[in-house]
Amino acid sequence: MSNTAGGYSFYKDAKERRITRYRYNNIPYDRGGRYIYIKDKEGGDFWSVSWQPTNNRFKEKEGWTKNYAQLKSEDYHYECRHGLGYTVIESAHRNIHTKTTYFVPLGENLEIWKCEITALPSGGARKLSAFSFIEFCLWDALNDMTDYQYNLNIGETEYKKGIIYHISRNRVDGTFYAYFMPTNQKVESFDTQRRDFLGAYGGWEKPEAIVRGKCSNSIAGGWAPVGAHHIDLDLKPGETKTVIFVLGITEKKGEELRVKKSYATPVKVDQALKKLQKYWRENLDTLQVETPSDALNHMVNTWNAYQCRTTFNWSRSASYYEAGIGRGMGFRDSNQDTLGFVHQIPGDVKQRIFDIASTQFSGGDAHHQYSPLTKKGNGRGYSDDHLWLIISTASYIKETGDVKFLKEPIPFADGGKAPLYEHLVRAVDYSRTHTGPHGMPLMGFADWNDCLNLGTRKNRAESVMVAQMLVATARELANLANLINKKKDAKKFEKIAIDFTNRINKYGWDGEWYRRGYTDDGDPVGSKKNKEGKIYLETQPWAVMSGVASLSGRAKTCMDSVKKHLATKYGVMLLTPPYQKFHHELGSISVYPPGLKENGAIFCHPNPWAMVAECMLGRGDLAYEYYMAILPAALNDLADVHQTEPYVYSQMVAGKHHKNFGEAKNSWLTGTAAWNYVAATQWILGIRPDYKGLRVDPCIPKDWRGFSVKRVYRGNTYFIKISNPKRVNKGVAKVVFNKKEIKGNVLPVGKKGSRHLVVVTMG
Ligand code: NOJ
Repeated sequence: MSNTAGGYSFYKDAKERRITRYRYNNIPYDRGGRYIYIKDKEGGDFWSVSWQPTNNRFKEKEGWTKNYAQLKSEDYHYECRHGLGYTVIESAHRNIHTKTTYFVPLGENLEIWKCEITALPSGGARKLSAFSFIEFCLWDALNDMTDYQYNLNIGETEYKKGIIYHISRNRVDGTFYAYFMPTNQKVESFDTQRRDFLGAYGGWEKPEAIVRGKCSNSIAGGWAPVGAHHIDLDLKPGETKTVIFVLGITEKKGEELRVKKSYATPVKVDQALKKLQKYWRENLDTLQVETPSDALNHMVNTWNAYQCRTTFNWSRSASYYEAGIGRGMGFRDSNQDTLGFVHQIPGDVKQRIFDIASTQFSGGDAHHQYSPLTKKGNGRGYSDDHLWLIISTASYIKETGDVKFLKEPIPFADGGKAPLYEHLVRAVDYSRTHTGPHGMPLMGFADWNDCLNLGTRKNRAESVMVAQMLVATARELANLANLINKKKDAKKFEKIAIDFTNRINKYGWDGEWYRRGYTDDGDPVGSKKNKEGKIYLETQPWAVMSGVASLSGRAKTCMDSVKKHLATKYGVMLLTPPYQKFHHELGSISVYPPGLKENGAIFCHPNPWAMVAECMLGRGDLAYEYYMAILPAALNDLADVHQTEPYVYSQMVAGKHHKNFGEAKNSWLTGTAAWNYVAATQWILGIRPDYKGLRVDPCIPKDWRGFSVKRVYRGNTYFIKISNPKRVNKGVAKVVFNKKEIKGNVLPVGKKGSRHLVVVTMG
């Protein structure tokens, strides 16, 4: 939902079950939404409670103190606040104030728009009409946009006692329908056929029915089904009346009648909103921090955690940048999304890992994505996808201790079933056995970097990053094997890790950093030998995180190169220098103009990898510098440059070779959310789940005196106070656990429900 009530609604799957229509690439921007219009019956004027789509002229009031008496009748005032799971939009015009709250109650398949309408005393008694308006989508969002010969005929609606039913295709699928209704007001008239409400050639900004003051009670038979209600309201001076609209979907006949009762009064609606707010408070309470940085506190405690939940829910499928019709749940993306969410609701993560693993092939590689509704996979040929499954599983087990999950049988996409552990083994085996001339894993269509398509002709191109991931995941798999007493397997995986470490250090090292890969013709990519794309970010932190680079040697050298060549004031660029023209042998990376997206933007997703690597090196000041450079809440003063929301990460920020250096795009659905959360909480603040317990290993800026953390872990609550009397970056000198000093820095786990006081001294 946008700040002006734009956006679209869907049920389970943004492509297959789209409830409302959204118009991509529309002019004006952002059309299709949840619209309420107010009409002054005496003056004749009308406007929308969310500023758009009527687009009233408004001036920002300096020093605005919410004193509506200050407003002139012709002024239009508007403001929007997004909360956790709800949005509130206020407006004032013609001495009428509205406050509209939109949210989805917990456990329901419906959204509520609660609109409180007040006649400001200065305007006297008022006679108003309120009109609601949505446009239905004919369920399959892609078909809806393309197949008119079909769609112009299938639309069907019904109307009964104030409730508009969208029943298109019901005769085929028979199980679900959408409904739209006011729950607490009498309906004067309605429309369900678009041209009757908007008028022939009519637009959102001036619907003919509103100009006329009445709808035509139209029932759609084909064409474009919509939902519009007309309600009359008489208000005394100062009086407030509330109109509650509900848009819902159900697979159970008659459900809407239960809903109508459940949300029939503002009190009932407010109770549902309170429940939702409480749910979020409790959810976020699993990890709360108090550090010297307000921006960090805001992000970690609230908005970064919230974004992690959003990416977990939608992967890269539905947002303002993803139309919800192409990509479903990404295999690599969804695995990474679990990393920032697993502490909130581990049970959901377990189910997600199960679903993802079910789209892996028995040969070890995997589908690239799957549909959230059918859970069926599609796409194949990426060299990294399957390895991310090991990373998400390890993180889930470190969080929960649920080792048994490794033994759970999970189907393969191409038939058969095997325990999760076997899925992971096959993932490693696939990458270990599909290698190129330098012994590195083949690149396939691409690896993590979707746009680095090196290997599509001869299938000989190689990925150094996947080789590093293989080392990291083989090592993690050795840990998992030990947990279930498969000692022989563990040794085998350790050996694989060592073998590939040697190969990478022999063929992947370029002198001052690690190369990125090899083309089909065996030419290096990300090397001093290249004119452009000499150094890439990904393979530097991954060399450190995987243990391929020794901490006392190449780790420092390659991360120094990152600082020297890639770091900018707005974050770390993905490569430099960017490609100036298209290179067939490199693929779509060179389609982007220099400095945008994968071609040298500050790609925010791998930035936290650099933070993690710096923490491993003990360089807390640099890790923090990288963290602050892309931290949305720290960019408020730069809003005119940065452009996207100052509370949510964006996928990329234009790099220094682009004229819009510092401008962000693609906010919300990005792996940046989960990885920054991990970097901040597990590496900078250093509260890191491990197989045996919660490790405390901060790596902070030297000038911090200390900080505190509340963390719920395996049913225990830890209150951790960390002080830094010697002003070091890293190092734990003493841990006092429930008033007793303990050895090491892994906090023991007690009985479910126990609470622990932990005092840590750095030094
Ligand atoms: C965005 C994609 O969703 C993600 O899977 C990929 O790793 C990055 N772009 C980098 O190409």
